[in-house]
Amino acid sequence: MYYSDEKIEEVRERNPIVDVIGSYVHLQKKGANYFGLCPFHNEKTPSFSVSAERQMYHCFGCGAGGNVITFVMDYENYTFQEALKMLADRAGVELPKEEESAEMRREQDLRSILLKIHRDAATYYYRMLRTEQGKGGLNYLKKRGVSDEMIRAFGLGYAGTHPQALYRFLKEKGYSDQALRDSGLISIRENGTGDKFWNRVMFPIMDVNNRVIAFGGRVLGDGEPKYLNSPETKIFDKSRNLYGLNYARRSRKGCLLVCEGYMDVISMHQAGFTNAVASLGTAFTVQHGMIMKRYTDEVILCYDNDGAGKKAAIRAIPILKEAGLRIRVLSMEPYKDPDEFIKNLGAEEFQERINRAENAFLFEMSVLRQNFDFGDPDAKSRFFNTAAERLAEFTDEIERNSYIEAVANRYGIDFSLLRGKVNLIGNRAPVKYDAESPGLPERPIGRKNRDTGIQAAEKLVLTVLSEKPEFAAKSGLTAEDFRDPLMKEIAEAFLSGGAVSPGAVLNRYIDSENYARAAELMSSNLSETMSSEELEQAFSEAVRRIRSESIDRRMAVAESPEELMKLIKEKQKQYVRPPS
Ligand code: CTP
Ligand code: MN
Repeated sequence: MYYSDEKIEEVRERNPIVDVIGSYVHLQKKGANYFGLCPFHNEKTPSFSVSAERQMYHCFGCGAGGNVITFVMDYENYTFQEALKMLADRAGVELPKEEESAEMRREQDLRSILLKIHRDAATYYYRMLRTEQGKGGLNYLKKRGVSDEMIRAFGLGYAGTHPQALYRFLKEKGYSDQALRDSGLISIRENGTGDKFWNRVMFPIMDVNNRVIAFGGRVLGDGEPKYLNSPETKIFDKSRNLYGLNYARRSRKGCLLVCEGYMDVISMHQAGFTNAVASLGTAFTVQHGMIMKRYTDEVILCYDNDGAGKKAAIRAIPILKEAGLRIRVLSMEPYKDPDEFIKNLGAEEFQERINRAENAFLFEMSVLRQNFDFGDPDAKSRFFNTAAERLAEFTDEIERNSYIEAVANRYGIDFSLLRGKVNLIGNRAPVKYDAESPGLPERPIGRKNRDTGIQAAEKLVLTVLSEKPEFAAKSGLTAEDFRDPLMKEIAEAFLSGGAVSPGAVLNRYIDSENYARAAELMSSNLSETMSSEELEQAFSEAVRRIRSESIDRRMAVAESPEELMKLIKEKQKQYVRPPS
């Protein structure tokens, strides 16, 4: 959806920055400005200032800065559109509605009905927990040491013993059978309509905006199945939701703790680890990884200390790496899961384990190690061969050596012996991949190219330009948009207007250490491997990416509100498909 400049201005003006930020951060007036603790980094003395006059904020500690819209984008991790929408709602500004097809409107209506049903159901279960009938549920939670505060924060409840209790309650509210069936909470069949959950402790699953989108229910004892979960519905997609993320995303602890279940998340939050989330028994997906990457760069896996938990960690590592996250693995030894650990050893000891959580590569090595019997010389040498193959994938020499050293020390082999082995493999098969994605022995997902996204985009654009100089004008790029210094230089040559031959440009690098990179860029021939349509598409996607990063970089250093507004608008245009 594209909004006019006037509309965006209106939304900004109707949301005074001090009011909006004041609802997130405690602000105190000092002179002309307001000060508070910066929500974008950890600090003890306020260096975050908000200026009513300029309608901007700035943190002297971490350099964060912007206007009311960028604040909401950064704080809530919203896109521009989402932030604008939220601020418009807040101030009662009506945004022009997108032309919706009847289909889209029906879809939207259904979603909002399902959300209402879930909100009502959550309220129902929550109240039920405090009734006579819910005593069993409340006792169960008490027995497991869940505090009242956590019961409230996580909205825990109880599904009664009557098999149609929720159905009747929701029917009274006027929902249609069709909508109730679509919610997944009620099964409506000819031989009897009934609640999906009964006689269970209920865990509402919330999205990042605190809306209830599904439930998990636990039996009060040893029954089977232990947990019953909502099916996937129009509002619940398992591969995108993380239990506890609605709170964890605001914890600002620098990392996320990922565990397996509901009770683990609640125990951790209760013990002060408010950055805990759970994937709820489902396998990790790339989407989970990408969602977490919106909030953090580091993930610490706190999976159960058993075979299944280890396997889950081994499977999760490459997926999380793919999303660009750093990963460490926490040892729960000798307990089974975070819930048990904290109950037995306490929060301080758990923090100690977080500090000592093991690097993901070394964790993978220790799991690998268990497959080999060191009493058998043959098995032992097979272990070192496999380890060496993995070590050979580190391209950075210093990094490679430190990992070789760590493995050598840990598994009792001479450093230079192991390094010799690693280098032999390294020479035999040229190392193609980044240190950031060592992957796994069995590699469940594709290996990652060594260029990061933006580097790859810059390279692609220049490669195309070297083949098709006529693309230069329509790209709308300037050399300043390029991040990599070498790429910027080459872009300057290609974008300067006149005809340039790649050969002439390359000549400039003949004696330079950049020759290989420059040559690689200009000698690939994309039109041989792509149709011209594919080529154009790849080109415009890459251009969009470069521009959007370039705008982000400029936004970070923008000095005036006007400049910032201009950049925001420019950024917004990025999302609009040009008329074709
Ligand atoms: N799970 C599930 N269905 C099951 C078992 C487990 O959906 N039958 C999911 C739940 O989200 C659960 C998580 O997997 O929280 C981890 O399972 P498990 O370790 O068995 O449960 P705990 O979280 O330890 O449960 P509790 O402490 O309540 O026994
Ligand atoms: Mn448990």
